[in-house]
Amino acid sequence: MSAAKTLNLTLKVWRQKNGNAKGKLENYPLNDISPDSSFLEMLDILNNGLIEKGESPVSFDHDCREGICGSCSLYINGEPHGPARLVTTCQLHMRSFKDGETIYIEPFRAKAFPVVKDLIVDRSAFDRIQHAGGYISVNTSGNTQDANSIPIEKENADEAFYSAACIGCGACVAACKNASASLFVSAKVSQYALLPQGQVEAKDRVLNMVKQAEKEGFGPCSNTGACEVECPKGISIENIARMNREFLSASISK
Ligand code: SF4
Ligand code: FES
Repeated sequence: MSAAKTLNLTLKVWRQKNGNAKGKLENYPLNDISPDSSFLEMLDILNNGLIEKGESPVSFDHDCREGICGSCSLYINGEPHGPARLVTTCQLHMRSFKDGETIYIEPFRAKAFPVVKDLIVDRSAFDRIQHAGGYISVNTSGNTQDANSIPIEKENADEAFYSAACIGCGACVAACKNASASLFVSAKVSQYALLPQGQVEAKDRVLNMVKQAEKEGFGPCSNTGACEVECPKGISIENIARMNREFLSASISK
């Protein structure tokens, strides 16, 4: 049997005027969608139709549309970034869905990610966690050692690189029953903990970033592992174990 040339879909989309308004799922039938369209292109088509009818388009976040910026945070059929593994919503294609399917599209849900409008949530809590320690201070006086001249074990360089792949999308939070940000925070902590350049502020970094995550209202990690499954960048929960070791050691020695 050959695959359907185009898809006829029913979309159930979360509509919410603002953070204080009560939201609800609205029904939108959408026909003749190419399986080769991206998920966001499909939403663009929906919005063009709504605008033509004089209705308000669905607000959703997006920027790079190539899996880099982390802004396209949608909860699709009960999963952050939808059914495909290791892809962001912008890299998801309509061939992942069946003709006649009903697709539920909701914002990421977490107390620390309040809804701004429709499918857009405020993820500035992640920015504040980054500001609490996700950086290194570098002396730019002209005497700075060239980073390329500092030997780093291959294993550590690779692990730091994998941790640095986190795009701050928040899918780990949306997937977690506790709305924990542990995978995100641990990726940021690990990225520096594994490199010599990150050692100067290592203790303050882990203590401050974990403290800020708690302050923002993210929950605790209970090792369920849902975050790792849904992360579009394959960030491993081994990072959480590393963050916990770093946190314990910093708490004892500070
Ligand atoms: S750890 Fe993964 S799911 Fe969480 S913010 Fe980073 S890229 Fe997104
Ligand atoms: S729009 Fe940038 S990661 Fe999807």
